[in-house]
Amino acid sequence: MDTRTNIADVVGKEGQDVTVFGWVHARRDHGKLIFIDLRDRSGLVQVVFGPKIAGASDLRLEYVVKVTGTVNRRPENMVNDKIPTGHHEIFASGLEILNASKEMPIPVDTDGYDINEERRLTYRYLDLRRERLAKNLAFRHETIAFIRNFLNEQGFYEVETPNLTRSTPEGARDYLVPSRVQKGNFYALPQSPQQYKQLLMVAGVEKYFQIARCFRDEDTRGDRQPEFTQLDMEMSFVEEEDVLRLNEELLVALVKKVAPEKKIQEIPFPRLTYKEAMEKYGTDRPDLRTDTHDPNLLAFCWVIDFPFFEKTDGGGWTFTHNPFSAPKPEFMEDLLAKRNIGGILTTQYDVAMNGLEIGGGSIRNHRPEALEAVFEVMGFEKERIRRNFGHMLEALGYGAPPHGGIAWGLDRLISLLRAEPNIREVIAFPKTGDGRDPMMGSPAEVDAAQLKELGIAIEKKEQKNN
Ligand code: AMO
Repeated sequence: MDTRTNIADVVGKEGQDVTVFGWVHARRDHGKLIFIDLRDRSGLVQVVFGPKIAGASDLRLEYVVKVTGTVNRRPENMVNDKIPTGHHEIFASGLEILNASKEMPIPVDTDGYDINEERRLTYRYLDLRRERLAKNLAFRHETIAFIRNFLNEQGFYEVETPNLTRSTPEGARDYLVPSRVQKGNFYALPQSPQQYKQLLMVAGVEKYFQIARCFRDEDTRGDRQPEFTQLDMEMSFVEEEDVLRLNEELLVALVKKVAPEKKIQEIPFPRLTYKEAMEKYGTDRPDLRTDTHDPNLLAFCWVIDFPFFEKTDGGGWTFTHNPFSAPKPEFMEDLLAKRNIGGILTTQYDVAMNGLEIGGGSIRNHRPEALEAVFEVMGFEKERIRRNFGHMLEALGYGAPPHGGIAWGLDRLISLLRAEPNIREVIAFPKTGDGRDPMMGSPAEVDAAQLKELGIAIEKKEQKNN
C-alpha cells in the first residue's frame, strides 16, 4: 500500500501528493465537482473530486475509501474554521472504494445524546465512530497510560489477578460461574481484587497496582455498571498518610496532563471526617464546589474516620466499607476486646469529587487476630470464618507486612473529567440500565447440552403477564 498520511497531518503537506484512508463523513454533489468530508481517527478533511474521477458519484455516507491527491490551500472565502484542516483540501487524482456501507441505522455525525440508547448500544460499533465517543476512548487510553507510567516510576508492579475466583464480600451480590469439572461448584467473579492484592503484599510484592475489572450484581445506575474498572493499588509498610499523599499527587498530576483546562479548587485536598461531612453536608461525598456553574472546576476531598461497623436490620453488626480494614490505631484494643463496637473508627478513606465517590481504601488488618475479631463482631461462627476466610487468616499468620491501599472507580473519574452525564459514555461496550448488551444479545439462554454438562437445570420460567 502507498504510504498513508493521517488526515490531521495534511496541514503540514501543502502542495504535496498524499494518500489518505477513511470514511465518507459528509458528501455534497455539485454536479461537476463532488465534495466529501473524509474522516479517519485523527480528524476530517475536505476532498474535491473533479469529473474525471471514476466512482466519486457513487460515494455514500460511511463508505470506506482510499484517496490519492494533492493538498491545496483553500481560497480565503472557502476556509472552514471549525476543523483543524479547514485551511486545506485534497484535490483527488485517484479514488478506490474499499467497502460500501448500508444506510446508517443511526447518525454518527452528531453528539448522539438524543438518540435512543437501546439503538446506540445495538449499533455500538457505529456509535463509537462519533467524534465525542472516539475522543472519550482516546482520553481513557491517555488516562490509563499516564497512570501506568506514573506508578511504574514510583516502583509499582502491575500484577493481574484471577477473574475466576471465590466470593469477596464487598457488599454486592456475586456473579457466579458454574464449574464443569467440579460439578455443582461455582466460581465467583471478583467484586474487586481485594483479597488477592493483600495476598500479594504477603508475597512481598510491596507495591502493586492493576487496571482491574470488577463485577457486581447490583442494580445499574448512571454511575454504576455490573462490570466496571478500578485502578486498584496496594502498598506495604505504609500508613494512611502515605496512601493519601501518593494518590493526591497522582490525581493532581493526571488532571494537569490529560485535562489541563480543569482547575482543582483546593490542593492539598480538604479532609473531612465522616462526622463533619454528615453534619455539614448531610452526605459522605460532599460537593464542595464554590461555583457549580463552572464545568471546569474540580473539588476533590478526602473523607476519613468512618465508623467501622453499623447495625444490621436484624440487630447485629456489619462492616460499613471493608471487612479487611484496620481500625484506627487508638481503637485496636476495642476491636480485639469487641467492646465499644459502634464507636470504633476505621482507617477507611474515601476520595470524592464534585459530589461523587471516585475512590476508597484503607489500611488493613495485617495481624490475623484483628481480622478474626472483625468477623466475630459480625457474629460469624468460627467454622464460617474458617470456611470463608481461612486462607486470609492463614496467610496473615506468615509475617504479613503492614499494608494498605485504595481503588479508584476509573469509569467515574473519566466520566467526570469528560463532563459526561453517565459512565456508559466512557465505556466502549457498556450494559443497559437493566444489565443487557443489546448488540451481543447478552445475557442469553444456553443450549440444553451446555447446561447438562454443567449439571444445571433451569426452573421453569414464570409466565409474563401482559
Ligand atoms: P469500593 O467498593 O469502594 O472499594 O470500590 C472502589 C470504587 O469503585 C467505584 N465503583 C463503581 N464504579 C462503577 N460501577 C460500580 N458498580 C461501582 N462500584 C464501585 C467507586 C468506588 O469508590 N476493594 C475496595 C478498595 C480498597 O479498599 O482498596 C473496593 O472495591 O468509585
